[in-house]
Amino acid sequence: MQEQIEKIKQGALTEIGRCQSEKELEKILYKYLGRKDGQLTAILRGVSELPEEQRQTIGSLANKARAEIDQALQKKKAGMANAGAAQTGYFDVTVPGAKPTTGHMHPLTRIRLEVQDIFKSMGFKVYEGNELTDLYYNFLSLNFPDNHPAMDSYDTFFIKEDPKKKIKPEERRMMRAHTSNMQVRIMEQNKPPLKVIVPGRCFRNEATDASHDHTFHQVEGFVVDENISIANLVYTQKALLSKIFGQEVKVRLRPGYFPFVEPGFELDCSCIICGGKGCSVCKRTGWVELIPCGMIHPKVLESAGYPKGKYTGFAFGMGWSRLAMMKYEIDDVRLLLNGDMRFLEQF
Ligand code: DAH
Repeated sequence: MQEQIEKIKQGALTEIGRCQSEKELEKILYKYLGRKDGQLTAILRGVSELPEEQRQTIGSLANKARAEIDQALQKKKAGMANAGAAQTGYFDVTVPGAKPTTGHMHPLTRIRLEVQDIFKSMGFKVYEGNELTDLYYNFLSLNFPDNHPAMDSYDTFFIKEDPKKKIKPEERRMMRAHTSNMQVRIMEQNKPPLKVIVPGRCFRNEATDASHDHTFHQVEGFVVDENISIANLVYTQKALLSKIFGQEVKVRLRPGYFPFVEPGFELDCSCIICGGKGCSVCKRTGWVELIPCGMIHPKVLESAGYPKGKYTGFAFGMGWSRLAMMKYEIDDVRLLLNGDMRFLEQF
């Protein structure tokens, strides 16, 4: 009898050891410990009929064997659940999968690609620009006289130069205050006809608020050729805005001052929210101020080294951060760059 119990136990443990699936494990449970036909159950059931002197030893032996088999079964079952499909062939299709985290484009990037596509379809080239620039390209080449108060609204971050190096004043380095800093640089390297946009980051030494940040984005654009007129400027802006907003828009020009254009304008777009009737977005005027622009000042074309009087051109500077804010109804410019995932995950 003792041998029989030992044999049953060993048989059960070997089978448990080899077992590959939970189903097989269940079969083993029934085979050895099943209430009806379990091999060990049968022995336990017979204990009461054994002669008095055997009852105790056989009973406790059989109970011990049952406990051991039961423990081995539990252990194996837990191991299978942990080991996963690769090791055990067991795969629970109802367990929710681990979601891989995926990124997506930043709202500023989306707008940039959209704007670039529109300009490319009109024959413009896309340039990247120097974020670190100097006094000449940021101001002087653009007809800002040195120390002129017009520079005040473009206050930016200057680099601390080594005083021993004795650099010329116009070579003083700074973070660009506008993407217009690329105008003369690109003109110097290319002959007209020129159709260019420069999307890029700009910097200003600002006290930040909902509509001002020390770092923001602009798209500069310009066209230079013979006989370029204000009509070309208006047409291009109208086509661009109609494409961006997906509907025909009206535009109008008001006078604006920028040293590098003459005449200079503020280009307004008919309010797309109310269709020009007047609402809170357009402050009841029916128009939204969108694009500063103008005819390139002859002094700028001169800075580029172009022959006097040969070419004309127009230029414009779009607030790319602002465009993103309008398109996605974002009410604080600082949200765009502060890296808050709760904001970014909404796009
Ligand atoms: N660079 C100007 C700014 O940051 C915007 C601008 C105005 C660009 C008129 C232009 C222009 O090209 O013609 O305020």
